[in-house]
Amino acid sequence: MSGLPHGGKLINRQSFGKNVDAIHLEVPIDRISLSDLESIANGIYSPLTGFIDEDNYYSIIKNMRLKNGLAWTLPITLPASESVAASVSVGDLVRLTYNNTTYGTLNVTGKFRPDKKWEAKHVYLTTDLAHPGVKRLFDRESVYLSGPIELIRRSERPNEYAGDFLDPAVTRDLFDRKGWRTIVGFQTRNPIHRAHEYIQKTALETIDGLFINPLVGETKKDDVPADIRMRSYHVLINNYYVKERTAFAVFPVAMRYAGPREAVFHAICRKNFGCTHFIVGRDHAGVKDYYGTYDAQKIFSNFTREELDIQTLFFENSYYCKKCGGMASNKTCSHPASFHVALSGTKVREMLRSGIRPPATFSRPEVADTLIKGLSKKNNESKMIRH
Ligand code: ADX
Repeated sequence: MSGLPHGGKLINRQSFGKNVDAIHLEVPIDRISLSDLESIANGIYSPLTGFIDEDNYYSIIKNMRLKNGLAWTLPITLPASESVAASVSVGDLVRLTYNNTTYGTLNVTGKFRPDKKWEAKHVYLTTDLAHPGVKRLFDRESVYLSGPIELIRRSERPNEYAGDFLDPAVTRDLFDRKGWRTIVGFQTRNPIHRAHEYIQKTALETIDGLFINPLVGETKKDDVPADIRMRSYHVLINNYYVKERTAFAVFPVAMRYAGPREAVFHAICRKNFGCTHFIVGRDHAGVKDYYGTYDAQKIFSNFTREELDIQTLFFENSYYCKKCGGMASNKTCSHPASFHVALSGTKVREMLRSGIRPPATFSRPEVADTLIKGLSKKNNESKMIRH
């Protein structure tokens, strides 16, 4: 049974179809803000009811908590250009538009100019522009608007997986109907490989239900696109998982690559979906070598169990060991590393893009074939567009 959402109440700020024609002020937003707008409105970001104000911004960045003391690690801000920001005043009600379509409204309660270098240093632990999250932070507009929002229209959902979008209210109900007392959430931005499967199933040995919740918001260019991953998830689940013990929905939120802080954020969002447990393995939400392998686990020691109210399940780096003849980690296998199948994400993506199946000890063959097919189709399509 799902516990309470973060802050005690599932936020719902969806007012689909509401007429906003009378609102003349307009603030164009980017894709990330659009996904944030939707995630505030459907409760994924409970207890947030809008884009954060300056006090909460400083509080989150300095203390990893909202001003009221509730744990919250990533600043959910609404960047606007200098000229747009100059055209709106505190107290205005504005329409939030993406590609000239209105998706919601913002009741402007504040605007402030952030110190992005300081934000990067604390949130990403680096100011290096080679870090994709930092780069994006600096690429986005320079004034932050704050205030409560309403969502009046949902963004278009890709046909390939439109049915995989489930709001937290729906997943909570689903878990209850399944009769699960404990539910473990799993975040990924990648295709599911054998080590992912191993840690999920190890958790599932003692937890009632597994909630696979892959991220489909903005990712960096070289990550495998969500539509291609989606087919591979379904192939994997249909062939290798127990249906009655597995639930699946997408996580329509942008990847920040903020490592430790993002791991806490991911856990809180999954609590809102109704999870009681959350998996954090090696280098969760990490990129290149910016974070230590287990930093995303260590950060949880800054919070009491009561204040997060979702139990983390930490996993060691896992791999297939040829000597053991199965999946293992250094906690369960004493054989030298030469027996371990270790492939970097970059290497695997290269193999898949060249049509080469990674070994079955790394990736299920059905999954690899689906990915190879999807990537080659996408490659041909983009070649056709270029010619
Ligand atoms: S991400 O969203 O955290 O960036 P990724 O697919 O790399 O996605 O990992 C998903 C989850 O599996 C994370 O909790 C990560 O720590 C964990 N994980 C990935 N690979 C391994 C591995 N080989 N051993 C243990 N945990 C892993």
